[in-house]
Amino acid sequence: MTENTNPASKLPAKRSWAEPWKVKVVEPLKMTTREQRERAIVEAGFNTFLLRSEDVYIDLLTDSGTSAMSDWQWAGMMLGDEAYAGSKNFYHLEEAVRRYYGYRYIVPTHQGRGAENILSRMLIEPGDFVPGNMYFTTTRLHQELAGGTFVDIIIPEAHDPASEHPFKGDVDLAALESLIGRVGAEKIPYISLAATVNMAGGQPISMKSLRAVRALAQKHGIRIILDATRAVENAYFIQQREEGYRNKSVAEILREICDCTDGCTMSGKKDALVNIGGWLALNEYELYEEARNLVVVYEGLHTYGGMAGRDMEAMARGIVESVQDDHIRARIGQVEYLGAKLVEWGVPVVRPIGGHAVFLDARNFYPHIPQDQFPAQMLAAELYLDSGVRAMERGVVSAGRDPQTGEHRFPKLELVRLTIPRRVYTQAHIDVTAESVAAVYGQRQSARGLKMVYEPKYLRFFQAKFERM
Ligand code: F0G
Repeated sequence: MTENTNPASKLPAKRSWAEPWKVKVVEPLKMTTREQRERAIVEAGFNTFLLRSEDVYIDLLTDSGTSAMSDWQWAGMMLGDEAYAGSKNFYHLEEAVRRYYGYRYIVPTHQGRGAENILSRMLIEPGDFVPGNMYFTTTRLHQELAGGTFVDIIIPEAHDPASEHPFKGDVDLAALESLIGRVGAEKIPYISLAATVNMAGGQPISMKSLRAVRALAQKHGIRIILDATRAVENAYFIQQREEGYRNKSVAEILREICDCTDGCTMSGKKDALVNIGGWLALNEYELYEEARNLVVVYEGLHTYGGMAGRDMEAMARGIVESVQDDHIRARIGQVEYLGAKLVEWGVPVVRPIGGHAVFLDARNFYPHIPQDQFPAQMLAAELYLDSGVRAMERGVVSAGRDPQTGEHRFPKLELVRLTIPRRVYTQAHIDVTAESVAAVYGQRQSARGLKMVYEPKYLRFFQAKFERM
């Protein structure tokens, strides 16, 4: 056999990989026509949150609560101990969080924002400042409702979609130090650190940055609270990109991340592979006691916090599955597959590709649409019109208004998020999505802006309505 007839000579330099699971149950999708989609998006006020899910073909609105559970998780659902108090599923959950995240005390909540509410009420006094590596919508709102002011201390590269910095979630230590100098450590109840940073494009924080923040915080006696929602994905990036972590497991790195912090809020609907659930975890007993007092007011008893026993069992098992290296490699590999296609075709996206989503750079997509005409909102609508793919605006609509001035907050990043649910879509769905983005990019010159015709008071992106200019 000569060299060029040997099929092995045609293999790509990097061999293909596939998911470490196979499909057991399917959910049929409805196909729609362009006319049906035109009607649906107008009725939804050009807000993809207001579409009915049955009018959506490929749903990339969010990775939150949209994962496919494994057969082992579903089996766990049948083992729900639906007792009001002391459900054995709570103890399984507590054990899993302690083992993989390492915190001492766990307060279950119905989802992430339930934990944020309790934490903010407990720690923030009016006039306080909460520094963080970029805002998240619900997290900042709870900080503000408690009387705090969020201060962005992420590195400047995070606001630049083209920067290839491998850890755009890192903290600008000088900015943090200058805040401490300006307002005093006693006005900073905690530093709010996210891993990975959702609004920056799913970008990780490095262990080096975490350690540096830890040292500074310790010097001033300030707590660090982790938003652990996608910390497993962050651990994978550390394994892949940070020196010295190649031979550590994602589970080991996750523990190292958490060990740099004093507690966490968690939306189990992301990393933990469940449709609902969350928790607040703390290491200090006095704080835990107070959180237990508050959880019964806002969520439910301290052994269920708004979840059914079966939901806690599914989450306990989801945690175990989520930290497996094979799982996380395939999960992020799928996101990177979509990103690589779009990069190859010259579509403007946030670089490097993030952990849970590919973020389209609407500013560069539609340079002719000013930010107060909501280019990202329009781009998400155009994508839906083209193919029934549903994405999410992450720009000026999501940023909301400044509570002091009442003006729009104009973020540097004006993005559309193509968020990939875990273990749900095939490579063919991803190809269809990439082609639809390319088609919309091809038509970019004819796109027009939007005007807002209805604006809710809080978290306006969920329910605001728009019309074409
Ligand atoms: N923190 C981060 C980083 C999040 O991404 C979310 C939710 C929350 C906290 C709040 O958790 O939804 O369980 O109350 N993010 C979803 C998203 C909604 O689509 O990115 P929750």
